Amino acid sequence: MSHQPFTGARRLAALIGAAALLATAGAQAADVAKGKEKADQVCAACHGKDGNTPIDPSYPRLAGQHRDYLRQAMLDYQSDARKNPIMAAQAKQLSRADIENLAAFYARLPGTLSHQR
Ligand code: HEC
Repeated sequence: MSHQPFTGARRLAALIGAAALLATAGAQAADVAKGKEKADQVCAACHGKDGNTPIDPSYPRLAGQHRDYLRQAMLDYQSDARKNPIMAAQAKQLSRADIENLAAFYARLPGTLSHQR
């Protein structure tokens, strides 16, 4: 039975499943406690301790934001792909591990971004 019409789709589904597993493995590698430590020391000054009470309304809320988005934002500030003098200065102090930990920490905080519809 090599001509089942869904074989390709099944194979694709298996691949997607494997990719999701890999993504989950990455998620476990981040250290949320370390992310919180760094966030309290550095980021809370502007973004608020809960990631939800920025000191200025023009400063974004981070709590509950997608982890991939947070990670990418920090990487983009580091590389100047996203230009902002305040955050570039912040991001350039961060190691790759810091970024993973911070993204995992903020993504887990209850946010107003995803729950108010
Ligand atoms: C001195 C104030 C200040 C500090 C400290 C600070 N930030 Fe920011 N952050 C900002 C401002 C202002 C922006 C908006 C910049 C822009 O418009 O791109 C921002 C944007 C961001 C964004 C993008 C959010 C979005 O919705 O696009 C992320 C992620 C972020 N900060 C993470 C952090 C992390 C993690 C730390 C701690 C290591 C930190 N910030 C420390 C002021 C600060």
